[in-house]
Amino acid sequence: MRSPRRKPVTAIEPGLPLIPLKLTKSAAFSNLVEVVVPQRTPEQLVLSPHNIRTFLGLMEEFRGADLLRRHGLTIRSKLLFCGPPGCGKTLTAEVFAHELGLPLIVARLDAIISSFLGETATNIRKVFETAADQPCVLFLDEFDALARARADGSEHNELRRVVNSLLMLIDRFKGKGFLVAATNLEESLDAAIWRRFDEVVVFDLPSQREIRRLFELKLKNFPAPFSLAEKAARLKGMSFADVERICDNAIKRSILKRSRSLLEAEFDSSIREGLRRKDIRARLPQR
Ligand SMILES: Nc1ncnc2c1ncn2[C@@H]1O[C@H](COP(=O)(O)OP(=O)(O)O)[C@@H](O)[C@H]1O
Ligand SMILES: [Mg+2]
Repeated sequence: MRSPRRKPVTAIEPGLPLIPLKLTKSAAFSNLVEVVVPQRTPEQLVLSPHNIRTFLGLMEEFRGADLLRRHGLTIRSKLLFCGPPGCGKTLTAEVFAHELGLPLIVARLDAIISSFLGETATNIRKVFETAADQPCVLFLDEFDALARARADGSEHNELRRVVNSLLMLIDRFKGKGFLVAATNLEESLDAAIWRRFDEVVVFDLPSQREIRRLFELKLKNFPAPFSLAEKAARLKGMSFADVERICDNAIKRSILKRSRSLLEAEFDSSIREGLRRKDIRARLPQR
């Protein structure tokens, strides 16, 4: 076993060598989990200064785990990621795993909970067993499916039991890595659920500064020969994923016009499309 590095973490460092994942029998139910070898790195991620500090702190604790345990202290290892879609919850889970040198096990709760009821409890248990077997980041995506299941669970006693047993598994989670749950609907999670997490990390819509930072990342190899500050102002209220789509569309169209740099007209029309898309989405009922 690799011993954790003791060096204090001063900045997001290049990822540690990845611990190979043992594929145990319990991992053979792979439609419920996806084992991801994390590829994406901090250079591809824009985080708020507050969240950067949170993650550096968590990494430092993880790397100094032996030392802290010798002092009888527990390591923060259960995290709840909240915030609107497209703001980096999934991406951050991957980057975090990459930085820790851990594999990422992604379990989608909506798939698990809506499968045949008799099997659901067994599936959940297997997911947790896999995560207990080896150091990893266990990522419970679509965690709001849980809150939904509890809300309409009245007709389904079994479903309610399943949800409660999942909560118990979370309580007892003593994995060698992290448990990360992600939800877009934090307001629908009740206090009983919140209480189970050591840290709640909020992924908000990007600030102007963060939009400009994302422009820099996305346009790194395809520079814009015009000012982007004023463009960022027009994207207020969009998610990172929306801004990324606008950049990608503008780049593609500029390339198809045989341009070697970003065309302002294409960027503007991609923004208009992005705004239209946002309007349509705002008219749809929110789930
Ligand atoms: N904070 C961010 N920094 C850089 N890219 C982002 C960020 N948030 C989202 N993206 C881009 O949008 C895509 C979708 O984001 P994702 O992490 O799946 O959002 P969420 O899980 O919050 O719904 C990512 O794969 C990435 O390309
Ligand atoms: Mg996600």
